[in-house]
Amino acid sequence: YRAYAQDRDEFYYGKFPDHFEWGVATSAYQIEGGWNEDGKGPSIWDKFAHKGRLLGKATGDVTCDSYHLYKEDVRILSELGVNFYHLSLSWSRILPDGTAGSYNQKGVDYYNNIINALLARNITLMVALYHWDLPQALEDKGGFRSDLIVDWFEDYARICFEQFGDRVKLWLTFNEAYVISFFGYGVGEHAPGVRDPGVGVYKAAHNIIRSHTRAYHLYTNHFKEKYGGSVSIALDIEWKEPLTDSEEDYLAANRAIQFKLGWFGNAIFGGSGDYPEVMKHYVAEKSRRQGFSSSRLPEFTEEEKKLNNGAFDYLGLNHYTTHLVTHSNTTTMRPHYEDDQDIEILNDPCWAPCKADWLRVNPWGIRYILRWIKEHYGNPPIYITENGRATNDSLEDWDRIYYYQYYINEVLKAIRLDNVDVRGYSAWSLMDNLEWTNGFDERFGFYHVDFNSSKRPRRPKQSAYFYRELISNNGFPR
Ligand code: BG6
Repeated sequence: YRAYAQDRDEFYYGKFPDHFEWGVATSAYQIEGGWNEDGKGPSIWDKFAHKGRLLGKATGDVTCDSYHLYKEDVRILSELGVNFYHLSLSWSRILPDGTAGSYNQKGVDYYNNIINALLARNITLMVALYHWDLPQALEDKGGFRSDLIVDWFEDYARICFEQFGDRVKLWLTFNEAYVISFFGYGVGEHAPGVRDPGVGVYKAAHNIIRSHTRAYHLYTNHFKEKYGGSVSIALDIEWKEPLTDSEEDYLAANRAIQFKLGWFGNAIFGGSGDYPEVMKHYVAEKSRRQGFSSSRLPEFTEEEKKLNNGAFDYLGLNHYTTHLVTHSNTTTMRPHYEDDQDIEILNDPCWAPCKADWLRVNPWGIRYILRWIKEHYGNPPIYITENGRATNDSLEDWDRIYYYQYYINEVLKAIRLDNVDVRGYSAWSLMDNLEWTNGFDERFGFYHVDFNSSKRPRRPKQSAYFYRELISNNGFPR
């Protein structure tokens, strides 16, 4: 780790590779609104928000109103000059009760309209099947804690590949498998609000991996030849910097990466089809001491491991921030994903805070995590699927420009100096939107959205001009 320190600070002048792709990201629940229109069924986030669980009792009922204003979105995407748009599909718009029998043509039409309008402007698509908004009807039947989710997800994926596969070349199964498991089924801070941090959290994660693998093979076996697209999963991970030079802290930092990125990444990208050894060891050991008869971490069958291993065409990386990590002997007997790791997470006060309290600005972290991925996963093709920071409600967002300039420069260094195979980059986010439990308080957009006006006008911030220029230069030529 420390060996990398020498080249942290120099700005790198140069361009990205010729075919590098530039994009921006959004997600269905965060921008669409139209929560019950044209046959859409309720999702777990509709229910969670209606219970008043988001800051300021915010909901996604209208948010950016992209359900009606998608042409405006296409216009600003084209103004930005991006090559691709990374969006997600609302499962319960397409299948209101989550299952194939409830197919809703109007929901499919909505996405066809967007896709066609984008392609007419030469903007390609990266489409996530799942960005957190499970149909409520499926949660009522157990959601990700039920093994049946694998079949439900496969049916949904098949319908999406059939309907949109001729025009969509980049697919993502899940966005941030960690967040779905930990916040949704571990600590319950996200929908569906389940608090089961010792057992349910691992079960949900296990079923996400199985669902991903099933959808990947479905595409590869039945659609790949015809459409030639690529399928991946978007995993979120900070850079984990050891607090001190001690071996204990070095191991703790590495363990923290394995427990978060490796939890999902190891099975798919790591070569064994299974969880990281260190994770299996720690959870088994804690479970034993807590009196469980077997490890709280579920096991894959040999057949499943074979299917998991290599179930990707590229790797989607969501990266925002860095953590400092130190070793800590957790003495509590509480069965809890966080306590299973024997680590403590800290912040470096030198890293500037931002409007999102979990996010501190540390540009070189993105280069380090890219290097880690190359070293552990054999240099897969990578798309940065999300990266960005929140600011206040202002069009003069110089802090955002600083963030993008330096983070993207570190991505360029990873490509040019470390030979990491990064193919594309999509920033979070096209426009201000509903930031989950933080409501409309955090703004991540290149475009400002006025949520007090019924027309939801989109206006470019300074960072939109910056990003447009960066794209047209394909980097930072001298
Ligand atoms: C990412 C999510 O984790 O972070 C996005 O994939 C989200 O959907 C973004 O909007 C910002 O997070 P938050 O929690 O501050 O809204």
